Amino acid sequence: MYDLILLGGGPAGYHAAEYAAHAGMKTLLVEGRALGGVCLNEGCIPTKTLLYSAKLYESASHASEYGVSFSGASIDHGAVLERKNRVVKTLVGGIGMTLKKAGVETVNAYGELLGRGKEGFTVRADGKEYQGAKILLCTGSTAALPPIPGLSEALASGFAMTNREILDCKKVPKHLTVIGGGVIGLEMASYYRSIGSRVTVIEMLDHIAGPTDREIGAILQKNYIKKGVDFRLGAKVTSVGADCVNFETSGKTESLKVDALLVAIGRRPVTQGLGLESVGILTERGAVVTNERMETSVAGVWAAGDVNGKSMLAHTAYREGEVAVNNMLGRRDVMNYRAVPSVIYTNPEVASVGETSETAAEKGLDVLTEKLSLRYSGRYLAENEGGDGVVKLLVDKEHRTVLGVSMIGSYASEFIYGAAMMVEREMRVEQARKVIFPHPTVGEVLREALFTV
Ligand code: NAI
Repeated sequence: MYDLILLGGGPAGYHAAEYAAHAGMKTLLVEGRALGGVCLNEGCIPTKTLLYSAKLYESASHASEYGVSFSGASIDHGAVLERKNRVVKTLVGGIGMTLKKAGVETVNAYGELLGRGKEGFTVRADGKEYQGAKILLCTGSTAALPPIPGLSEALASGFAMTNREILDCKKVPKHLTVIGGGVIGLEMASYYRSIGSRVTVIEMLDHIAGPTDREIGAILQKNYIKKGVDFRLGAKVTSVGADCVNFETSGKTESLKVDALLVAIGRRPVTQGLGLESVGILTERGAVVTNERMETSVAGVWAAGDVNGKSMLAHTAYREGEVAVNNMLGRRDVMNYRAVPSVIYTNPEVASVGETSETAAEKGLDVLTEKLSLRYSGRYLAENEGGDGVVKLLVDKEHRTVLGVSMIGSYASEFIYGAAMMVEREMRVEQARKVIFPHPTVGEVLREALFTV
């Protein structure tokens, strides 16, 4: 009999399992594939490994602007993939060891809820039955695949790929078309463009980067147009052929003959085959319904991570897992989605937290906006020849609390958490000004914005 059984060993599951075990719970983690989930095996980590190689290659190609000369920088995609596999293997192994050390038992098989009895819940995995007083669902998400004619055939033939296959695509496509100008689409477009593919991004909306502040998204698009990425906005894919993609834009139908197609139009929670119906867990639009304590509609069952469809990000998943376990232990804790930072690891990087100009306008918030060029930072100027990075700060006009920060430029991913603290803690500008930022750093421009708003 376990105190807690977790289904799914991605960021929500492995972190919550370790956290629960450290708190004294007898914990079992059931994972059908590799520990680490999408994030470690086919998402965040492999992508960042690829993007770092691309960044090095781009830096080498532009080194002469900094007084450094190379003769013939080149990139070996095969070697990049090999290194990516090594990084992933190390991290997956590390999670296994950490869980073992924490006392978490693991089963490498798909688990299914069979029902609830006096002894708690029954989970079947690998032909065995396990009893758990509490359940945490952490089964994550999978690529959403729209019912576009020809797409399933294209996926079966290997012409079309999702985030999973593209990370192991051995051949560098001469022309890659990406359906979806969101996070995955932009990061993969960034990598393949850097290593020499011709890249076209087809996006249904009239802008890229989804909910990112529009001004910031537009700067990103400008950077990528300069690098040669072709954007087709307001374009809807109508069908996929054996070597082409057809789409409609401004009432006209266009066809592009390409070598490879990446489908990155969002993700959907994994809820099938989990036996949710055996205990009556409520789902809505394919996601497990949770409240702010991560409780599902069934007492004793919690859900954290992409499976609840709230904010499909690894760092949200970590926090949701902690909130769930804290509540299981009787420690009151609630999830605050207002201060979840998000990052697009393109070059330049984009990072945001809290309100954007668009969400503030939608909510009718009265805001003061301060937008500063990162070129105010000595460090940024020293390291970014011709850079056009920007930080944008949104402050509540009446209470002068920090409502949101959006930025584009180097290191944005590394200092956005400073802004997240301001938003999370509802800091007033005058309080935030007292925070000492190290000098010289790019992040100092945020401090500058706090003084000018
Ligand atoms: P997304 O939701 O970020 O972007 C999908 C884009 O596809 C949207 O802009 C949408 O308008 C567009 N779209 C939808 N249907 C379309 C169609 N038929 N034709 C053309 N465009 C269409 O989804 P994405 O990029 O697949 O990422 C999935 C999830 O993975 C996201 O929730 C994201 O948060 C997460 N992720 C996070 C990363 C990060 O934090 N850096 C990196 C990669 C993924």
